[in-house]
Order: sequence, then C-alpha cells, then structure tokens
Amino acid sequence: MKKARAWRLGMKDFLVMSNSRQRVQLRRPTWIILLVSFVSIFLVGVYIYPAGSSAACFIFSSEGCNAFNNPRLVNLRPLTDDEIASDVVIKEILKTPPVQTRTPKIAFMFLTPGSLPFEKLWEKFFYGHEDRFTVYVHASRERPIHVSRYFIGRDIRSEKVVWGKFSMVEAEKRLLANALIDPGNQHFVLLSDSCVPVHNFDYVYNYLMFTNVSFIDCFIDPGPHGNGRYSEHMLPEVQKQDFRKGSQWFSVKRQHAIVIMADSLYHMKFRLYCRPNMDGRNCYSDEHYLPTFFLLKDPEGIANWSVTHVDWSEGKWHPKSYRAQDITYELLKNITSIDESVHVTSDAKVHRFSF
Ligand SMILES: *[C@@H]1O[C@H](CO)[C@@H](O)[C@H](O)[C@H]1NC(C)=O
Ligand SMILES: *[C@@H]1O[C@H](CO)[C@@H](O)[C@H](O)[C@H]1NC(C)=O
Ligand SMILES: *[C@@H]1O[C@H](CO)[C@@H](O)[C@H](O)[C@H]1NC(C)=O
Repeated sequence: MKKARAWRLGMKDFLVMSNSRQRVQLRRPTWIILLVSFVSIFLVGVYIYPAGSSAACFIFSSEGCNAFNNPRLVNLRPLTDDEIASDVVIKEILKTPPVQTRTPKIAFMFLTPGSLPFEKLWEKFFYGHEDRFTVYVHASRERPIHVSRYFIGRDIRSEKVVWGKFSMVEAEKRLLANALIDPGNQHFVLLSDSCVPVHNFDYVYNYLMFTNVSFIDCFIDPGPHGNGRYSEHMLPEVQKQDFRKGSQWFSVKRQHAIVIMADSLYHMKFRLYCRPNMDGRNCYSDEHYLPTFFLLKDPEGIANWSVTHVDWSEGKWHPKSYRAQDITYELLKNITSIDESVHVTSDAKVHRFSF
C-alpha cells in the first residue's frame, strides 16, 4: 500500500503518553483571545472606515487587502447548477449537529491489502474500552486472518484497490458508509495496516472527541507533484488556485463523514480527471480530492494536518520505512512529542507549522 511504513514487530507495548494534551487544552483560550481581538479590530475598522472606502484596507496587512480580491471570497464567477445544489446540501448538513448518543464511539477503519500485522498491539490499545470504539476492516486483496477478538467479524464487503487509482477513494468511502450505519460513531479514523498507536486509548479518544475539527491534511504544493497534477477539465468548479494536496490518512467527525457521502459533484470531477495517466500526467485522487473538497466547502472545519505521522523527510517517492532495529524507545518518544506539521512540497521546499 502506498505510503505504508513497514513497521516490523519487535516491540511489545509502546503506547507512550506525552504531555501534549495539556498543550491542546491550553491552546483554546489563546485561539478565542486571538479571535476576539481580530473581531474587535475588524469592527473598529469598519466603524472608522465605512465599507467601500479603499482606506479600510490599510487597517489590515497588505495580505488582508488581497483577501478582498480573492475570487473565492468575492465570487465573481456565476455558480453552476451543480455547485449551487452541492452548496445548499452541504451547508444544511454543516448547520445540523449530529444527534448525541449516550456513549459516543470512535470508528477505527483499517484499509489493508490483507491480514493486519499489528492486531495484537491494537488489542492492547482497545482493551478495557469496549463501549467506546468500533472496528471496520476493508481488505482489498485477500481475506485477512484475524488474531484479535476486536477484529474478528469486522470485515466489510470490499473491492480491489489499485495503488493511486480512484478505487482507493472508493474504498475509503465504503468504510465511511459502513461505519456511519452505527449512530454511535461520532468520529472516523482511517488507518493503514502499518499504523500503530503511539498514545493510549483515553488520550486518543479525548483528543478526537473534544476537538470539533476533522484532521484532514491540506496544503499547497506548487511543484510538479502538487499543482502539476491539476487538470483544467475540472473547471469551473475546481480552480487551480484551490487545488490542494494532503496525506491520504484522515480522521473526520460525523458531520464531515456525511458531507463526504453527500458529494457527487467533486467526486465525479476527481474520478474522471484526477487519475494516473491523465493527459500524460499522473494525478492521485486519494491525495487531492478530500483536501481540495474541504478547502472549498468547510476550510475552517479542518485542522490542515493529519493525526497519523509519516516521515517524508527523505524526500523520496515513499516515506521512510522503519525496520525492527529502528524501533527504539527514543524514536517513539520523538514521534509522540512532535508538535509541528511538516509539508515537503515537490518544489524542494519544506514548510513547517506548529499545532
Ligand atoms: C469549536 O469549538 C470552539 C470552542 O470550543 C467554538 O468557538 C467553535 O465555534 C467551534 N467550531 C465549530 C465549527 O463548531
Ligand atoms: C486551514 O486552512 C484554511 C485555509 O487554507 C484556513 O481557513 C483554516 O482556518 C485552517 N484551519 C485551521 C484550524 O487553522
Ligand atoms: C530524537 O530527537 C532528537 C532531537 O531532535 C534527535 O537528536 C535524535 O536523533 C532523535 N532520535 C531518533 C531515534 O529519532
């Protein structure tokens, strides 16, 4: 599987705790203060400089001025029928909070070719939390042999998945659809067969449940493996300036999972025009469809980074894979304490931002 890291067994238990949860809790007030002060600056600005006056722009940075010229904010283009329909459906879903069940659960959705090498490790992670999670397995190549009771009987009907093709996105949507059937599932995490947990269950549960965003990686890659994959056949709904890239591994809240189910317009655009060997270019929908779709439909609702860690720092086609001798306590401690998101773009630049 693409981007799968070949973790090899050799560790018994490495559900490491770190203190980054505190950081998350501390962050919220800062955000609110920032937001409040931004809002008040804005109001003062509007009060002093009535709308329409070009002087109003000077109260913001030059970037703020440009925001008014951004065609996505001031939509100069008339929307297509499909776009209007898509917008109203999605806005309506986003306005309607999902029904709260007594014990909200997290759906762990495994996208794998066959058997899962780390079932025993996941079993340790899940043990004792039986009422707060569900497991779904989409095995695209061969029937998995399960060794953990949490995985037995959790296979969903699957289809073949071809690396880089749209069948990857279809498998992700199949997992989401099956997991949505259970109204208790409030958050949905997509994982590969080579993912391992690096925090304990409570930490992961609280982190995902009490953050009201989806963790979808989303960034601009101006290079050949980013914007270079864009095709103008996606116009008018998907403009080049809105084309985004991101890790395939996401975690979404229930509302966003439903929004993904409701989408046919962008689904179709990417299925037809973002695929390997499209006009002599290779485009991989699993890296572009959801980041671009959420940028267009709910940019504030996503974190722009993914909760699964992958090391792309070697700058190769595939991320770093770990062999048994690489797996040390220090490595795992390093991974659990990561507090920035690193985006390596194909114009050979590295972009970092803290979260
Ligand atoms: C997320 O939660 C924060 C505070 O906890 C709140 O201010 C914000 O409006 C919420 N956002 C959404 C999209 O619900
Ligand atoms: C994610 O990026 C979009 C723009 O690309 C921005 O509007 C949004 O606020 C970002 N999300 C967070 C949580 O910072
Ligand atoms: C862990 O991080 C430290 C500090 O960045 C670094 O020096 C060390 O090589 C890392 N160790 C491993 C095993 O990645």
